[in-house]
Amino acid sequence: MKKDIYIMGIESSCDETSIAIVKNGREVLSNVINSQIKIHTEYGGVVPEIASRCHTEVINSIMKQALKEAGITLEQVDGIAVTYGPGLVGALLVGVSYAKALSFATGKPLIAVNHIAGHISANYITYKELEPPFLCLIISGGHTYLVNVKDYNEFEILGKTRDDAVGEAFDKVARVVGLGYPGGPKVDNLAKEGEANINLPLTHFDNYDFSFSGIKTAVINLNHKTPDLNKADLCASFQKAVTTMLINNVEKAVKEFNLDKIVLAGGVSRNSYIRKEFEKMGERLNIKVYEPEPILCTDNAAMIAANGYYKFIKNEFADLKLNAVPNLKLEQ
Ligand code: KG4
Ligand code: ZN
Repeated sequence: MKKDIYIMGIESSCDETSIAIVKNGREVLSNVINSQIKIHTEYGGVVPEIASRCHTEVINSIMKQALKEAGITLEQVDGIAVTYGPGLVGALLVGVSYAKALSFATGKPLIAVNHIAGHISANYITYKELEPPFLCLIISGGHTYLVNVKDYNEFEILGKTRDDAVGEAFDKVARVVGLGYPGGPKVDNLAKEGEANINLPLTHFDNYDFSFSGIKTAVINLNHKTPDLNKADLCASFQKAVTTMLINNVEKAVKEFNLDKIVLAGGVSRNSYIRKEFEKMGERLNIKVYEPEPILCTDNAAMIAANGYYKFIKNEFADLKLNAVPNLKLEQ
């Protein structure tokens, strides 16, 4: 009988300290997430130095909790997978240094995981049958990519944002409208009470690139010039315009590349309107749309362990010189 593989995932790229144990790349035994949102809310956004300090304080107890909840010992772990980029350098260094120390002390192999590839891998947990190739739309706070996922760690970037990431635009709109931080979920909720009845400019390119700064600026200007504008209508209109731009590109790529699976990933894929509209598109085109369960959309270590598993089985290990790479690209 094949031996089960237990991978420990470690994630600390932004404001979540998370450690998970995942069995055979697909089964989550534990996924402990310590969010710093409450602390950063006071400042209206993530303060990098505070984030690093918080990771340092909690990471060891999170590791112990992850093992306890999984019901295994450190001895039973086969590999230690850690996010080494992209992200905030000080935050990443806490996770990377901790993982290196654990690897050195236990002799377990170290696996370097790209955070964006981790977001894609969240889907392997939700959908046990999902395998590449597929088309993936990654929409997070820092990244917007349309990717042809050829293999577990082989990516062809079809398009990316030329300016703001989708999540960044949500967060900025939320701040301007007075909803505060973190903006995405607040825009999502308020939009449910409004009508998408305000025309906003849509951006199109000949290739699969995106741009969200135009629509963000239009919302900021409208809000400034028309203070009594209904905020719920503004949020609903913003969300609808963003979704139209996302769907236009995805639909174009599905037709050109003849792929029959569309996969969503990243924090913004938690958005209820975006999920609904992608499901409708799937029905219209008669293709399956995959969306990670909400807790796996935003930053978590189970997705890092899931990705790490596919590197582990290929013996793709890192050495103890591993460093944080804050601007790491998906194709690197
Ligand atoms: O993937 P993630 O946790 O972190 C990055 O790797 O960037 O994404 C965080 C982003 C934030 O911009 C947050 O506002 C957004 O995801 N987000 C949402 C929703 N939930 C989280 N945006 C829109 N609607 C949501 N329900
Ligand atoms: Zn993320």
